[in-house]
Amino acid sequence: MSTAKKEYKRITVKSLIDMKNNGEKISMLTAYDYSMAKIVDAANVDVILVGDSASNVMAGHETTLPITLDQMIYHASSVIRAVNRALVVVDIPFGSYQSDPKEALRSAIRIMKESRAHAVKVEGGEEIKESVKRILNAGIPVMGHLGLTPQAIYKFGTYTVRAREEDEADKLIADAQLLERLGCFAIVLEKIPAELTKRVSESLSIPTIGIGGGKHADGQVLVIHDLLGMTHEFNPRFLRRYMNLYEDMGKAISQYVDDVKSRDFPNDEEQY
Ligand code: KIV
Repeated sequence: MSTAKKEYKRITVKSLIDMKNNGEKISMLTAYDYSMAKIVDAANVDVILVGDSASNVMAGHETTLPITLDQMIYHASSVIRAVNRALVVVDIPFGSYQSDPKEALRSAIRIMKESRAHAVKVEGGEEIKESVKRILNAGIPVMGHLGLTPQAIYKFGTYTVRAREEDEADKLIADAQLLERLGCFAIVLEKIPAELTKRVSESLSIPTIGIGGGKHADGQVLVIHDLLGMTHEFNPRFLRRYMNLYEDMGKAISQYVDDVKSRDFPNDEEQY
């Protein structure tokens, strides 16, 4: 397998399919605000996901369910203002596309028009196929999301690995193939066995992006707060932390408090 890396000035949905064909892995990370998105984009991350995980890491909710379409558009438009290279994909939040295809299209159009994002992401397969079709028919690129789909957490009951059993694995493969046939440009596979990711990835011509899906996915995605070690209580096996910002930020902030209390800050050079 070639690992050649082509230079992309701007990532499009077509670039991601090229990457899969060229054996180049796709990097994807979440961002929810301007400052973080600027850093992520400058580091050449291919896809920035304005995930509904904003509900957890930005707003402190236990699940992704409470975040609203208006809040997603606010986050997405902040991210878009920072980005020059990455493809920006935005989650359509829970309750904004499941009930009927027309509502799904209205939600996707609002995201594209008001935030100027490049694509949307939805969770599910067969159950939401009419919504996916309707959005794609309007010319809006759609990324799928299968496996552990956090918007359905109350149906699953837990955040454990999905599709270990044959029935669920077969449904997942059928859903992935359906999403490809409908015209989705990529599919996130969350928390499923590595061997199943391999089977799905090999059976599709569009890329798979794994989170807890193992090394055979065509790309990987993480929540930026997890990668940076800001969410120190979240420790799933799939997570590789590249920093311990929870501790480092805590130390810096405590130092600031000490400096203010001790009158060390500001000093003569730090005033007018
Ligand atoms: O909302 C999100 O951050 C996601 C990723 C975990 C894929 O959907």
